[in-house]
Amino acid sequence: MKKLINYQRRRLLKFAGLSITAAAHPPLLQAMNSRLKNTASADFHPDLEIELKLEAVRVPIFKGPDTRVWKVYGNVIKGPKQVVDNINGSYLGPTLRFQKGQKVRIYLKNNLPAESILHWHGLHVPSKMDGNPMYAINHGETYIYEFEILNRAGTYWYHAHTHGLTARQVYSGLAGLLIVHDKEEQALGLPKGQQDVPLVIQDRSFDGQNQLSYANNMMQRMQGFLGDQIMINGQPDFVLQAATRPYRLRLLNGSNSRIYKLAWDDGTPLNVIGVDGGLLEKPEKREFVMLAPAERLELWVDFSDKPLGTELTLRSIEFTAGSGMMGGMGGMGMMGGRGRMGMGRMGGGMMSHSSLPNGSDFPVVKVRIARKERGEEGLPEKLTKITALRMKDAVNRNNPKTIRLSMQHMSALLNGRSYKMNDIHADEIIPVNTLQVLEFDNGFQGMHGMGMMGMAMPHPMHLHGEQFQIIKREVNSRSKKAFSTVAAGLIDNGWKDTVLVMPGEKVTILKPFNDFKGIFMYHCHNLEHEDMGMMRDFLIR
Ligand code: C2O
Ligand code: CU
Repeated sequence: MKKLINYQRRRLLKFAGLSITAAAHPPLLQAMNSRLKNTASADFHPDLEIELKLEAVRVPIFKGPDTRVWKVYGNVIKGPKQVVDNINGSYLGPTLRFQKGQKVRIYLKNNLPAESILHWHGLHVPSKMDGNPMYAINHGETYIYEFEILNRAGTYWYHAHTHGLTARQVYSGLAGLLIVHDKEEQALGLPKGQQDVPLVIQDRSFDGQNQLSYANNMMQRMQGFLGDQIMINGQPDFVLQAATRPYRLRLLNGSNSRIYKLAWDDGTPLNVIGVDGGLLEKPEKREFVMLAPAERLELWVDFSDKPLGTELTLRSIEFTAGSGMMGGMGGMGMMGGRGRMGMGRMGGGMMSHSSLPNGSDFPVVKVRIARKERGEEGLPEKLTKITALRMKDAVNRNNPKTIRLSMQHMSALLNGRSYKMNDIHADEIIPVNTLQVLEFDNGFQGMHGMGMMGMAMPHPMHLHGEQFQIIKREVNSRSKKAFSTVAAGLIDNGWKDTVLVMPGEKVTILKPFNDFKGIFMYHCHNLEHEDMGMMRDFLIR
């Protein structure tokens, strides 16, 4: 008996060493009492301490029965309360708001009946803080993250990254936004507060009992999940009640596999001011913009001259999403009639399991002009300075690292390999503090993009760690026609962490691997593809 008490006392003392503020903050004590997977470090002095809990809960999304979801709940242990913005009536996790340079400690507590781990998508953090699947924690365990926000201002996000379960867990709700501000961005006078609106775009399917449905047959895994209900910020009937003034809209495609081609329904061009890794050098005007899974876009939009009561819709408009099954159907254009959503069209020539195929036309975000208000927030001609990475600085400038994307024999592969933990090949070892040329080849050369029973599919490719820059895109002749339905909407300037690679395309990027050694993943962000194995690790050393 005495032994036990001593043991517990020692445990408590050990935990008490974690932070001198512990006694004043009950949530921290609670976190300590659960099993810690790793420990807080005494020499890390956080500006912010946050607790995130993964919970299986019911939330009221529709009239009628509540929906069972897996949700991230946040609360601030140390720091201003506004850092964590929980979203009620939604499955979506809280929006986290950080300042560049802040040191953040996050206690992730898993109360789910399954293992899980969170990844900070787009953040440049040490390998151990990156949420690699090998760090997954079980029910009752706590993972402590400690990192400094090194990224520039931008719209980042977090989501579950559990081995083989990422698609299901994100679908169930385990995702949220992570917004970083910095001084340079704040000095620009862009719309802020109520006029700075995050819009997380996702598709879901619900059954008659308001429960999420997620079929997992082979067709669905090859193509990726496509829901028939578009959700904005986790809500089915979202309408932005806007004032007659400029807005900053932060779009995240948090869908498992759906790609959006966004355009205003009244033909107004879009002003793009930011991408994955923050602001562009200057705004870019486009008729439409592509937004692939995990990508972010920031829009500046002025509602000043809109009469009260005006309704505007950001739609996803038609494009050719893939070039069909069985290889031979490559290059086939649109099939099917002019049906509206829910008519079971063959979107983009791809046989689809969804009543709302990828590449069909449907409304995404509704805006209603509800208040008269004056706002002075103009659109700056120059937003920021971006230093262009140079090919001549890449250590492998004459020998680009090629990553071949393929879907064959019912598997999704990178350079013919499937994901395995602790399976680093020679070409996946990268010296730290180097700049590398990488190319993603999606059937650009040869037919590996679509073998027998294979599919030529778009793959949104994501690399963990530092943001990269897109250098060039090349498309082979048989894919040109399909590519032309998306080309004018690709924003390739600025800092990126995810790039859409269309069928028949090769995309060249320059990617820095600075500061941190260890394992960093690269993978397709079609989450069904990721879980099928279209994911690998780089070892930086
Ligand atoms: Cu957004 Cu490895 O993921
Ligand atoms: Cu993919």
